[in-house]
Amino acid sequence: MIARVIGTGSYLPEKVLSNFDLEKMVETNNEWIIARTGIEERRIAADNESTSDMATKAAQRALEMAGVSAEEVDMIVMGTITGDHPWPATACIVQANLGAKNAYAYDVSAACSGFLYALSAASDYLTSGRGKKALVIGAEAMSRIVDWTDRNTCVLFGDGAGAILLEAQEGEFGVLSCHLYSDGNYFDLLYQPGFGTKVPASIAGIEEKLPYLKMQGNEVFKIAVRSLTAVSKEALKANGMTSEDVTWFVPHQANLRILEAVTKRLKLVDEQCFINVNKYGNTSGATIPVALDEINRQGRFNEGDLILMAAFGGGFTWGSSIIRW
Ligand code: UT7
Repeated sequence: MIARVIGTGSYLPEKVLSNFDLEKMVETNNEWIIARTGIEERRIAADNESTSDMATKAAQRALEMAGVSAEEVDMIVMGTITGDHPWPATACIVQANLGAKNAYAYDVSAACSGFLYALSAASDYLTSGRGKKALVIGAEAMSRIVDWTDRNTCVLFGDGAGAILLEAQEGEFGVLSCHLYSDGNYFDLLYQPGFGTKVPASIAGIEEKLPYLKMQGNEVFKIAVRSLTAVSKEALKANGMTSEDVTWFVPHQANLRILEAVTKRLKLVDEQCFINVNKYGNTSGATIPVALDEINRQGRFNEGDLILMAAFGGGFTWGSSIIRW
């Protein structure tokens, strides 16, 4: 049994925030943002649009593509760190929105690696024979946890959602492997200090900007490049493959310089690496499924293509996966 992708979907909010818009908000400029990150613009959710709304639309598109009804879905697992509420799981709200009444649903908190963590859980579930169909979603409203006065972080992130529908099938097409890692020793290099149970909500905390994302960017950068390279090599080795076998490298889209460094270290050529960070910025758990849907809807996947995915994020968490399309 193998978990095969039978549908993809994505949703990006309409509102575009360009680098030039950001120049009017914080002390930054288009040249710096492009040179250091490769980002030109990002999407921002409307005031009345939440993570569950975006996730629902992405999931509906994946179901439509596959011609599968919501009642047929057995499991919904969603990578997100910007759920509608601290709890319950936003995947449950998506389940209700879809009318997926036979599915159990939960969120995975693994920041930018959330989609790959969710993919691994869904693949294990389907290959165990417990269910037939699973929706794997990555959805984030990063704009809601970004400090819009902090130029070190606010230029980097965007909002969006992506989803894939997996089906348990016989054969050799589907998720071939997942390798996942964590290291909590680094949790405070990239995190949201408040308001969880350690630092509960307070007026003083708001003034100290505790409910907003904090990152030590250049520390994260170095560890991200090392970890993404190592975990991608591990995936290739485990499958008896080399870089030349990879049709598409679909990495988490955090920063163009990270993608270029990892592509080079893996001895991949630029044409193998999919890049859309210029259009959407870092949408955390949503970047990989959004990218998969973009490639798929452009008709650029062929049966048998080997897709290498890798992600790194807060926790720290990181991982890789290979899919045979
Ligand atoms: O998604 C999961 C994980 N996240 C990542 O992988 C992100 C990893 N980190 C990065 O992408 C990069 O570290 C950044 C893009 C965040 C920063 O790039 P950098 O080359 O590491 O720059 P830096 O932090 O070393 O800062 C260089 C300078 C500083 O000025 P000084 O101290 O040299 O005078 C910053 O204050 O650039 C300044 N700076 C800015 N200038 C204009 C920082 N942000 C901005 C800005 N506009 N937006």
